[in-house]
Amino acid sequence: MDYQPYDDKTQLDRQIERYPLSFTRNPSAPLIQRPLTLTERTGPVGLERELGAGPLDLSRACVEGPSRPRAVGQLISVFGRVTDEDGSPIPNAIVELWQANSAGRYIHEMDKTDSPLDPNFTGQGRLLTGPEGEFQFYSVKPGAYPVLESGWWWRPPHIHFSIFGVSWMDRYVTQIFFPGEPLNETDLLLNAVHERDARNRLIFEYDSTSMGAVNAISYRRDFVLRGHRQTPALE
Ligand SMILES: [Fe+2]
Repeated sequence: MDYQPYDDKTQLDRQIERYPLSFTRNPSAPLIQRPLTLTERTGPVGLERELGAGPLDLSRACVEGPSRPRAVGQLISVFGRVTDEDGSPIPNAIVELWQANSAGRYIHEMDKTDSPLDPNFTGQGRLLTGPEGEFQFYSVKPGAYPVLESGWWWRPPHIHFSIFGVSWMDRYVTQIFFPGEPLNETDLLLNAVHERDARNRLIFEYDSTSMGAVNAISYRRDFVLRGHRQTPALE
């Protein structure tokens, strides 16, 4: 029997017209369901220790690591919860994050733009969800960046999320966008999710500015990993 984990109305088109890479990055044949062994259902154990997931401040180093100057850009605080379709929290999930710096530049060999790197910003880190599935981290707002080979396409500011559940087989990857960005209207990936409600689940909610010790603009995004309120996957 064909294995079809995808809801085409609320999940990303797998092959996107005008985005040639999407045709080579996606399977052309239906997926095959493979029985899981005990290892795949239960492992790995203690991954958070091996990967060093902990409190996270991408705008500096990890908060428990050595202090560094703050990266250039608008300081943001991002928080939310990870739950299943019934609203039950997913505690101890490893959340991996990566994003461009405030000039729209990644530290990556494939980034061929001439935007400047920031010596105080790596744009990547990991954290662990708490008992209620909650998470929070600081960062700077990422800049937009051009997809050079397209000749026209600017990616709006976004943060990449990967969430590991209880086992190897539970990995969920997506990108979350910022509200009110004009480039959201033309982004090929965001708009490859056709339902407006589902698209909105890929955009942070503006929360508030918090004043005090840390002045950061605050954004919220909850993740639902299954069911009709599922957050679309966007790789
Ligand atoms: Fe990106």
